[in-house]
Amino acid sequence: MRTKSIEQSIQDTEEPEYALTRSLSALDLTVFGVGVIIGTGIFVLTGAVAKQQAGPATALAFVVAGVVCALAALCYAEFASTLPVAGSAYTFSYASLGELPAWIIGWDLVLEFALGTAVVAVGWAGYVRSLLDNAGWRLPDVLSGPDVASGFTFDILAALLVLVLTGILVLGMKLSARVTSVVVAVKVTVVLLVIIAGSFFIDADNYRPFIPEAQGTVSASGLRAPLIQLMAGYQPTTFGVAGIFTAAAVVFFAFIGFDVVATAAEETRNPQHDMPRGILGSLFICTALYVAVSIVVTGMQKYSELSVDAPLADAFKAVGQPFYAGLISFGAAIGLTTVCMILLLGQTRVFFAMSRDGLLPRVFAKVHPRFGTPYRSTVLLGVLIAVVAGFTSISELAALVNIGTLFAFVVVALGVVVLRRTRPDLPRAFRAPWVPVLPAASVAASVWLMLNLPAETWLRFAVWMVLGVVIYVLYGRRHSRVTEVGTRS
Ligand code: ALA
Repeated sequence: MRTKSIEQSIQDTEEPEYALTRSLSALDLTVFGVGVIIGTGIFVLTGAVAKQQAGPATALAFVVAGVVCALAALCYAEFASTLPVAGSAYTFSYASLGELPAWIIGWDLVLEFALGTAVVAVGWAGYVRSLLDNAGWRLPDVLSGPDVASGFTFDILAALLVLVLTGILVLGMKLSARVTSVVVAVKVTVVLLVIIAGSFFIDADNYRPFIPEAQGTVSASGLRAPLIQLMAGYQPTTFGVAGIFTAAAVVFFAFIGFDVVATAAEETRNPQHDMPRGILGSLFICTALYVAVSIVVTGMQKYSELSVDAPLADAFKAVGQPFYAGLISFGAAIGLTTVCMILLLGQTRVFFAMSRDGLLPRVFAKVHPRFGTPYRSTVLLGVLIAVVAGFTSISELAALVNIGTLFAFVVVALGVVVLRRTRPDLPRAFRAPWVPVLPAASVAASVWLMLNLPAETWLRFAVWMVLGVVIYVLYGRRHSRVTEVGTRS
């Protein structure tokens, strides 16, 4: 339960050999946020969720997930503006809750970002394959990945994307931020195109019923059913009001990323001022766009007929607009690239912070003498994630990413309360309102969404976390720099 002092956290970032370059502004952060937030969630998951869980009420699911994220965002913003060092929730909990909780959260963030990167890379590969198909090129099934073919398959496109992005990140932040802004502009344009062009093809009949009646399901029984339904002893159902919450727990994936903005605090010129603006600004923009997109798409096509692979593009095909459909597929493929890159970046920074503290081997925390980036952890993780992206399918991984992220939200919200008690003296550029009521609400809301995820997701998450604790006990506990410093003084 030893904690690393705030002063120690900040001082560590000033050792030149282990310091990152400070180059980002509030606008960069917002662009960064939007760049990572809008992605597979809205482009791919919307279709499946509307079709299987919530119908036109998917828009409400986005509102529910958006509210959960807004509560967490206020806590994140306070933490990030108090502690401008790399590592996001990991660093925050090290300073407030203690080393073991910090390790747990860091380990949990590795899960969120690494698997999140893989999920998005696989979604990207799907769009690229559909574009290649249009041009008459078809990859052999064995190179198309488990979402397309069965037997031994490897998603070569997804793996290649991760490797190329790893290279870009090693070359440095500046390059990646510049590439990001161009791509974000393309992505937002495509989303606005869906909303504006699509609104001309809305048929009000498609909104009836807005909340489809609850239906019992066979497939959602057992481990696949949301944990809350099993706990309450209900016959598992889809649709209805409960379906909105199940849908919210899934489309939550679409919001993941605003927390990544917090991981860039150490590279921000004026974190005390820019960080809260970056986080809350990007979250607000995305929520508005998601609600609009889901209302338009479920208005264009009956929810039961929406496609699961490329719902936004296919809704335009369904109303006889193949040109728009092609444009949207193209923009989606470009847009998913930045999401993937920023998740990968967040991942390497958490790993970097954990190695700098000695909880993981210190060799990974050396920055490149010329590029100023933590190149060793970037390359190691890039290769591992490329392999995972090549071999695994989207759906199960997405739920696992969500549960991990929601868990991190819980810890951050608790951390805000603890730090207000233990270190009331610290300057906070941004203070979350209504503490401790707001963090308490954030904890309750996050736990509620977690309970709406399948029981099997809980099991997988438990296995990952137990593994993490074992590694901590065998390695991190002994090698922690906080111990070394403590022994020396
Ligand atoms: N929010 C990101 C997405 O939807 C992770 O792909």
